Order: sequence, then structure tokens, then C-alpha cells
Amino acid sequence: MTETKNWQAQTRMVHEGQNRSAHGETAEALYLTSGYVYDSAEQAEARFKEEEDGYIYSRFGNPTVRAFEERMMALEGAQDARATATGMAAVTACMMSQLQTGDHIVAARALFGSCRYVVETLMPRFGVACTLVDGRDLEAWQAALRPETKLLFLETPSNPVLEIIDVQAVADIAHNHGARLIVDNVFATPILQKPMALGADITIYSATKHIDGQGRCLGGIILGDGDYIKNELANFIRQTGPSLAPFNAWVMLKALETLHMRVDRHCDNAEKLAEMLVAHDKIERVYYPGHKSHPQYDLAQKQMTRGSNLIAFDMKGGKTAAFKLANRLEIAHISNNLGDAKTLITHPATTTHAKLSDAAKAELAIRDGTLRLSVGLEDSADLLNDFEHALAELG
Ligand SMILES: Cc1ncc(COP(=O)(O)O)c(C=O)c1O
Repeated sequence: MTETKNWQAQTRMVHEGQNRSAHGETAEALYLTSGYVYDSAEQAEARFKEEEDGYIYSRFGNPTVRAFEERMMALEGAQDARATATGMAAVTACMMSQLQTGDHIVAARALFGSCRYVVETLMPRFGVACTLVDGRDLEAWQAALRPETKLLFLETPSNPVLEIIDVQAVADIAHNHGARLIVDNVFATPILQKPMALGADITIYSATKHIDGQGRCLGGIILGDGDYIKNELANFIRQTGPSLAPFNAWVMLKALETLHMRVDRHCDNAEKLAEMLVAHDKIERVYYPGHKSHPQYDLAQKQMTRGSNLIAFDMKGGKTAAFKLANRLEIAHISNNLGDAKTLITHPATTTHAKLSDAAKAELAIRDGTLRLSVGLEDSADLLNDFEHALAELG
């Protein structure tokens, strides 16, 4: 591991975790190996007895994966981390590694669909009860606590209409109860919001999104204090195998070198587009945490450095107008992914949140005319033109 001294985050994102081989390569080496050989049978025995440091098998440790984990630890200010094959593997492993039958989770109801499935459907099958609350309502978090509550779980900004939850206040509620708070920080990115600095115990990412940022690889990561990672999570990952592939880790590791610049550019473009959408007469309402019109703008300002690249908006004219706009845009592509260099737009009611009941959609303000936009890295004037033309053509 590189000695990082007092370097700033951007410098650390270029150097942290590099473990040069004897060849002295400039770029980080890709250790594309599933296993490792030992100098002797005695050495193998010592590794398995944990008397000697060193790699044993890539399901539970690989130098390239470790380099990615160390770079992410530096960015997040976390003591330790474990990378996983996907964001959902991170969410599931994080919960399964610390819960048992009889425990209880309180989660914000505005969650990515698969996260909601894990807490609402999967965990109860193993005797872990779950209560969903409106995450913006601090009294609801408090009221949902039970003696057996072990975990509080939220994402902020939330998918798809970008509700903001007060991380510090929910962390206090969790800690006063002896529970832990997990924050899925995907929408905010590790650049714009630091959940652990706000009091969260564990931060989770789908690295598939902005961390890769170019739509290539799936990946995830769980960051937290050394005790939890070493004593609870590491063995769970070792035994059950949701591990990140070395190749994907290498792509993510290299992508961290440009994450600051990319997120800044994403936000520049999103701010301009949000401003234009707010003023447009074919748009009913816009949700963008970085715009003054957002109902929780002050809270967003308090815990995020910028508004992110996600914008949601409701079209006047409902589903017909929303579909027409999505179909007419030329630069923005229709895709349910997000955090990509390419601008992507999706209609949550018929894609990412299609499985929710009408009542659940209404609770989350997912309307027929709602579109969610992940603003990319294109030229901002081209993007504005694309939206202006497509909106004008709606008639
Ligand atoms: C907020 C959030 N959490 C978790 C995930 C899951 O990540 P992955 O697709 O890498 O499994 C996603 C994916 O869209 C997401 O948006």
C-alpha cells in the first residue's frame, strides 16, 4: 500500500492502494487469479492458521480487489471495507452478516426496488421483521423502533423522486437505541456526501453507477468500522462468496482516478438542465436537490456538497407526454441505469418501480408523468438543446 501522507482526496484517488509488483508498472497491476501458490506446505498451513499475512483464495482476498477497497476507504474515511460483485450483493451481505431470526429492521420506504425486496420480502422469510417508514419523518423512525431493532436502513437522495433524509438525525435515533445505521449512498456518490462523517455506521455503494461511471462493470462495496468488517462481514463473504471479480475491481480502481472530475461535470450539467426544466411550461414539477425549488433544499445543502446528477420531473400530460419526450430525445437514451457518462432517462412507473402497487407508487410520488433523468458528461449546450427541441415537438 502506498504511503499517502497528508495528501488531498483527489491525489489519494490517483495513488491510494497501489501495490507495485517487481516490474514497476505505472498503472495498477491486474491480478487476474483465483488462487495463490505457497513456497512450502508450512507456509500454506501458516496462512490458513492466520499466523502469516498473505492471500489464500480470491473469494476472500485478491490484491487488485484490495487496492480498490483501500482507495474507497481513503475516499470515505472508513477503517475497512469489502467489495462485492454487485450493489445488491453488498446490501444483502451487509444485512445477512449481522442479523438473525428475531431481529427487526426499520427502513425508509423510498428505496431502490431490489433493496425494498430484500428488507420487505426476503428478510422476513428468515424471521427478520421489517417496518417501512417515511424516511423524512423523524418521529416515524423513532416510533417504529422495537427492543429487537438492530438496523436502520436508508438511501438519500432516494430513488426515484430524490427525497432527502437527515442522516445525522437518523444516526442519533439508531445509536440512542443501540442499533446501527446503514446508508446506501449511491445517488449522492462518495464525492458529494459522507454518511459516516454524518454518523452512519456503514456505507454501501453500487459501484456499478458513478464509481465505474461508464456503464461497463457491476460491482459493490461495504465500508465501515474495522470490528464490523473484520469480525462479522469478512467471514460471511469468505463463506458465502458474493465477491468482486479482480477484473471488475481493476476497472473500478482506475475509474476512481477520475471520479472527482466526473461528478463535478455531472453536477454542472444537471444544475443547468434542472434550471431549464423548472422554468418549462410543459413540466409540472421538478425534483432536484441542488435547486431551491426542492422541498428539502436546506437539508440537502447541509449534508451534500452539490445536488448530484439525478433529476426527476413530472410531465404535464401524464404517461403519454412522458413517453413522447423519452422517445424524442436524441442524446438522452432510455435506460434504467444511472451514473453513466451517457445521459439516461427512465419512466419509473413502468420500469424500475413497475412492481410496486398503485398505493405504494402514490406514497413515493411516482406518477404516470414522472421521468427520472441521470445527467451525463456530454456538452451542456447540446443537452439543453436536446431537451428544448424534444419538449417543443410535444405540441
Ligand atoms: C440506490 C441503489 N442501491 C442499490 C442498487 C443495486 O446495485 P447493483 O445494480 O449494482 O446491484 C441500485 C441499482 O440501481 C441503486 O440504484
